[in-house]
Amino acid sequence: VTAGVEAVFEIGGEAIPRLMERIEERMGLLARGYGPALARHAGDTISAGGKRLRPLLVCLAAGVPPPENDDLVRAAVAVELVHGATLVHDDVLDGSALRRGRPTVVAAGGRRLATATGDLLFSRAFAELADGSYAPAAVRVLSAAASELALGELMQRADAWDASIGVERYLERCRLKTAVLFRAACVLGALAGGGSSERTLGAFGERVGVAFQILDDVLDVTGPPERTGKPRGADLLDGTATLPLIVARELDPSLAELDLRSVRTAADAQSVCERIEATGALSAARERALALVASGKEVLPALPERQQTALALVADGVVERYA
Ligand code: IPE
Ligand code: IPE
Ligand code: MG
Ligand code: MG
Repeated sequence: VTAGVEAVFEIGGEAIPRLMERIEERMGLLARGYGPALARHAGDTISAGGKRLRPLLVCLAAGVPPPENDDLVRAAVAVELVHGATLVHDDVLDGSALRRGRPTVVAAGGRRLATATGDLLFSRAFAELADGSYAPAAVRVLSAAASELALGELMQRADAWDASIGVERYLERCRLKTAVLFRAACVLGALAGGGSSERTLGAFGERVGVAFQILDDVLDVTGPPERTGKPRGADLLDGTATLPLIVARELDPSLAELDLRSVRTAADAQSVCERIEATGALSAARERALALVASGKEVLPALPERQQTALALVADGVVERYA
């Protein structure tokens, strides 16, 4: 996203870096403001970085240049805290040891601490929105997204070790676990900007969000770990069939027979990743994501021109990260 972000700053002006700075400060404050036991892990989760893609979407959905008001900051902070909470809990569910190149909260402090840290981040997010001018509507939007996220994570656990799931079910899972939060970021931005384009912006966010998850799943297969901050084939190791494998199974009968439970070591995962790659399934998955990004961009003409340009840059940035 980085290259595109600079171009976004050029179009959106100084307001964007100023807002991103305020958002960063506010998140740090909220994460640390609930006693030392949680502060360290919640604070580390926030300060470990991350691309801040969702806060950027909140800003741009509010307008380009965005209005520098507290409601916008609150919305962006809330969305990113929900994202952080989800990741902390996701790493418990996925048994992941690395996140953003660092040990996950569950790896560093165990399940109880990771559960509590995620809970704290969730609750801080909603408190942040509750104090804003758009409180009931904004809380409703984010709450619906967080609930769907939970459904998405449950769906993934329900499908664990089943390599035979179809594309439709996979896409629905991507929508639930990832795209609904992109949608919420755009809708909350629209609210904070006082505009009337919630539907357009929501549709844009959802399509780009599904594409984002597909590309993340492609990256899990391609690695390399230095780039992704997690081991290659991590999804396979926790029994998650994603689009690359779903497509590859149709192209290579030996992969169609693969029992995910037989993938036990990093070396096993690596070799399955290579077999998936050999089928050409990664290009097919990328194409699918590109088509979704294009369909997201199709709704943009309903928006003011500078906003169209900025959002299109972000959408392209999502793809470039994986080029
Ligand atoms: C990771 O999201 C989880 C997915 C939805 C694939 P990001 O890639 O936006 O995570 P950070 O915040 O930049 O680390
Ligand atoms: C994304 O799921 C996290 C959520 C949206 C809950 P993944 O499990 O695919 O993401 P990573 O690979 O852990 O970042
Ligand atoms: Mg995960
Ligand atoms: Mg997961």
